[in-house]
Amino acid sequence: MTEAYLAPEDAAALLRWYVDHGIDETIGEEPIDRFAIPPPAAVAATQAPSPARPAAPTPIRAPVAAAPRPPVPLESPQLVEDARALAEGCNTIAELEAAVGAFEGCALKRTAKNTVFADGTPDARVMVVGEAPGADEDRIGKPFVGVSGQLMDRMMAAIGLTREGGFYITNILFWRPPGNRTPTLAEQAMCLAFTRRHIELVRPKVLVLAGGVSAKAVLDTTEGIMRLRGKWAGYRLADGTEIPTMPTFHPAYLLRTPASKRQSWQDLLAIDKKLKEVG
Ligand code: URA
Repeated sequence: MTEAYLAPEDAAALLRWYVDHGIDETIGEEPIDRFAIPPPAAVAATQAPSPARPAAPTPIRAPVAAAPRPPVPLESPQLVEDARALAEGCNTIAELEAAVGAFEGCALKRTAKNTVFADGTPDARVMVVGEAPGADEDRIGKPFVGVSGQLMDRMMAAIGLTREGGFYITNILFWRPPGNRTPTLAEQAMCLAFTRRHIELVRPKVLVLAGGVSAKAVLDTTEGIMRLRGKWAGYRLADGTEIPTMPTFHPAYLLRTPASKRQSWQDLLAIDKKLKEVG
């Protein structure tokens, strides 16, 4: 049989294509079509020994098929409902962190190295919600620890807030999307169920939404960050309390577009003023 080899330039083009589509890590020797793997109930039915035949030896299966998985298709609305029910059952931040860590419904978890939950002190007056962990956050398991996190820390420090007592920080997504692609709406919806509960449990005096993905998801709007930033919005908790909420540019955007730092500085001053007003 003749083996087919790719010319080096074709192999390079194929690799580029993979990276452009978010496939930037090797996690197995062979590709697995996860959509073709039958749900656990169907697997059990096909493996049940018939009375006439001795049980066949357990076949070696891909790890994902052996792991328990909810018997619903990937990205199903049922998973969002599951996430919401789990989140609502959590009465402390520690319980919520454990529930997020145990949640298997979001496919992003399978390619991520770590679950990235939050950093800072939960009793801080300001809660910042970003988009999703990047490569550094995925490796370390904490939000905003890469270059954009360092800029975020410097910005908050300019109004006297640090992670040690001034602000608490999390993301909409708890797992890094491969290749840092924009999270799908289904991935956002699943994680958002936990993030909404997170906001309820923290009850910050001021909520800061860093970037368009976070602002649109939390405020449930289709308006872009260019229109939203710099204007106070209200985030209503279950008991009717309105948390003053400031959508602002994501630090990664500021690193690419330093001229916008002037507007971010206005946002920071507005946050500082609001904190003085709310006491
Ligand atoms: N960008 C985010 O939105 N969150 C992080 O944790 C890191 C970068």
